[in-house]
Amino acid sequence: MAETSGPQRLTRLATASPEAAASALDNDSQLLWDSGGIDSTDSTHRVYSGPRLRSRQRCSWRVRIWDDYGTPSEWSAPAWWEMGLLELSDWSAQWIEPDAPSQRVPYLRRRFALRDEVARARVYATSHGLYQLYLNGHRIGDFELTPGFTSYHKRLQYQTYDLTESLRIGDNVIGALLGEGWYAGVLGLGDAWDNKRYGEHTSFFAQLEVTYRDDTTDTIVTDEHWRSSPSPILNSGVYAGETYDARLEQTHWANLGGLNGLWSRVLARILPHDGLVAQHGPPIRKIQELVPKCILRASTGETIVDLGQNMVGWVRLCARGPAGTTITLRHGEILDAKGDLYTENLIGAGQTIRYILRGTGAIEVYEPHFTFQGFRYVSIHGYPGEVTVGSITGVVLHSDMAQASEFATSDDRLNQLHHNVVWSQKGNSVDIPTDCPQRLERLGWTGDAQVFAATAAFNMDVALFFTKWLKDLAADQYPNGSVPWVVPDVVRTIEVAPLPELLGKEAAGAAGWGDAATVIPWELYLAYGDTRVLQEQYASMAKWVDYQRARAGDQLVWSGDYQWGDWLPFGDVSTDTDLIATAYFARSVDLLGRTAQALGKDDDVLRYRILFRDVRAAFNRTFVATDAKVGGGTQTAYVLALQFDLLPPEQHAAAAGLLAASVRSTGHLTTGFLGTPGLLFALSKFGYLEDAYRLLLRDNIPSWLYPLTHGATTIWENWDGIRPDGSLQDPSMNSFNHYAKGAVGEWMYRVIAGISADSTRPGYKHSRISPKPGGGLHRVRASHSTLYGELSTSWEIAGSTFQLVVSIPANTTATVTLPSATVQAILESGEPLAVGNGITSVQDDGADVTVELGSGSYRFSYAMADSHSEP
Ligand code: BGC
Repeated sequence: MAETSGPQRLTRLATASPEAAASALDNDSQLLWDSGGIDSTDSTHRVYSGPRLRSRQRCSWRVRIWDDYGTPSEWSAPAWWEMGLLELSDWSAQWIEPDAPSQRVPYLRRRFALRDEVARARVYATSHGLYQLYLNGHRIGDFELTPGFTSYHKRLQYQTYDLTESLRIGDNVIGALLGEGWYAGVLGLGDAWDNKRYGEHTSFFAQLEVTYRDDTTDTIVTDEHWRSSPSPILNSGVYAGETYDARLEQTHWANLGGLNGLWSRVLARILPHDGLVAQHGPPIRKIQELVPKCILRASTGETIVDLGQNMVGWVRLCARGPAGTTITLRHGEILDAKGDLYTENLIGAGQTIRYILRGTGAIEVYEPHFTFQGFRYVSIHGYPGEVTVGSITGVVLHSDMAQASEFATSDDRLNQLHHNVVWSQKGNSVDIPTDCPQRLERLGWTGDAQVFAATAAFNMDVALFFTKWLKDLAADQYPNGSVPWVVPDVVRTIEVAPLPELLGKEAAGAAGWGDAATVIPWELYLAYGDTRVLQEQYASMAKWVDYQRARAGDQLVWSGDYQWGDWLPFGDVSTDTDLIATAYFARSVDLLGRTAQALGKDDDVLRYRILFRDVRAAFNRTFVATDAKVGGGTQTAYVLALQFDLLPPEQHAAAAGLLAASVRSTGHLTTGFLGTPGLLFALSKFGYLEDAYRLLLRDNIPSWLYPLTHGATTIWENWDGIRPDGSLQDPSMNSFNHYAKGAVGEWMYRVIAGISADSTRPGYKHSRISPKPGGGLHRVRASHSTLYGELSTSWEIAGSTFQLVVSIPANTTATVTLPSATVQAILESGEPLAVGNGITSVQDDGADVTVELGSGSYRFSYAMADSHSEP
């Protein structure tokens, strides 16, 4: 049964308080902008185009649509947004830091008086370091680890909090805690790179703007009137953990009556603030809590709490005991062979929390402030009394992105793999996309994000998360177009990888890593259909291609530079890095050309098409033999050539055959970071679907399912992180929460469940539904929240009968490919398949049947024609 929905919409905007919004929206004279009815099927990304908006302006809006019979919907409930501070002159705050430096994290506070009832109050705050904000004794907001992690000297996010309801007439106290965080703490890769990457000192910056009922205003800013005092946080570091001595708490430090004891002046400085930007990415929040699964005893006698899930965040500790008792919590991802906490793979990241009890007789509840841990197990030392499941709660933190998909099959192992992929994304999405969340690293490695981006966009709504990070990527891009290895560029790629001939002037970019500049905007465009990310990143994308072009020289073969290559493959298989670099060069040129097309930049389309053709020719000349052997014949070499469409069509079958032969003769995959994402696609697209399923469902080493046999709950960095005999990989690089190899998630959504976006009508305006059953699976169900609504597929095989149910969101269309089908055999909702009822065309190519359809739900069933049915 089908139902299609109509194209038009009307947007109204008004400026008003929320209460007044609804009536203002009804009053034409108060409207800021009325889009009018728009006769278009584009119901996403309609950009506001009314009068220029001012700082602090609040805009309410609502929308209605017409269906295809011209019937209007009800108005949506009013929603609103508010403008931040747009002009440099809006800011009058100064940067403050304690005048009496202490090792301890400082409390900062300021008492101020309000003369009347408040109509509106906002505080705009940020820091060099990390801050928590307090007012009259209470924490403000639910964002954690603010202001997040950006390329601080170029872009520093501020957060906006609404204090209208929290202020009172008369005296108030605003306060902050200020940790070193990514800005001034230990950051990087250990000894090779130093600390305090962005500055020696932490400082705080805030502006509280109060509007009274009579429209007069007061502004309270960080300045010399603030006071500071050492807090009970003796130290707190992103990697190290935190030590908190509750005996040093000053109960009213952020409240009236708190100014006793050791409060001293602050230093106030006026610094340029042209890098201030409003919060851009989704804020980090406490997303969920985990209750311990069991409590274990280590061989050392220590108590170990197992949270049952490798997670990222911190623990909430509850304890009661004598004053001065120190409870030590150490965090690790796995237990060693003896059942003790294994921490060697943290390579020096302490991940240790120490809490010293106040000892008032009451239960003390504590959560850390400016750190996070990657862990499943917590070893507890010094706990007064018996540790119970109530003593520890796992608090999961990450950038607050909505989960966007569900995926379930009849094979529980695949469901667990999907779970592991999602949890590795959670753990590596603490404001920036990271390689790993536990060891002395946790950096924005561009290659990891590049290979995982497509999967990430299926799992969660990553639009803002990556849009924000891409701005840092562009900000940190070198003048020659080279993209740093990590973004923000804290390892200063230029210092560790200067280009040989330009020593000290320009940094080398690595293939597959720097390509984050082109691949990620493109993936966002596919998933959300928003051309703005392409527009905004276009210069950065083009600069990266210019860089590749320059390194590849006249021959168009990028050779000789330092490369990470197909990082962490299995065994001693190694793929020629020149081949990889040239393949990625072609890939980026191709994507840039498509981007130019999406943006209507006709000259560039032509230019990059020609360049793509030429790089492809160079690739074939240099790396492809007449029998279609690519490079040294590694799996990754074939995968890149096929996945990036680098081979002439007449060589596809032969190259895919050689790839399949390699998979069959080794019996397993050998790919690393760059070959893994495309491996199953290269097989399934060119006739080796069952080989792809065999690789996916294999659970011997190396494979995606092998870690499950060791109880993995996240994706491992190494195929053999824990070997079959229980021995461990090199601890210096053995993360158990590294999403790169979880890039197989994209194949699970697109080929098993069969959901793909269409690049010609992106953002699921049109989708391609093409499930490919196999691997003995008899039931699969997946759904994906698109901007148009939920898209879902669900299929089942019983005997030779295949049934597929699809649900296509309103105002979108889809092409559904029914595998191994003939038109005559297919029933849709019990009726013979035919045009009508939402179905606009039916085509039979002799093997599969392709159906074009509009929105709605459809149920296809038929007897499959051949071997696709259950064995
Ligand atoms: C990180 C990777 C990263 C790599 C560069 C490692 O230390 O953990 O995931 O991409 O370095 O090759």
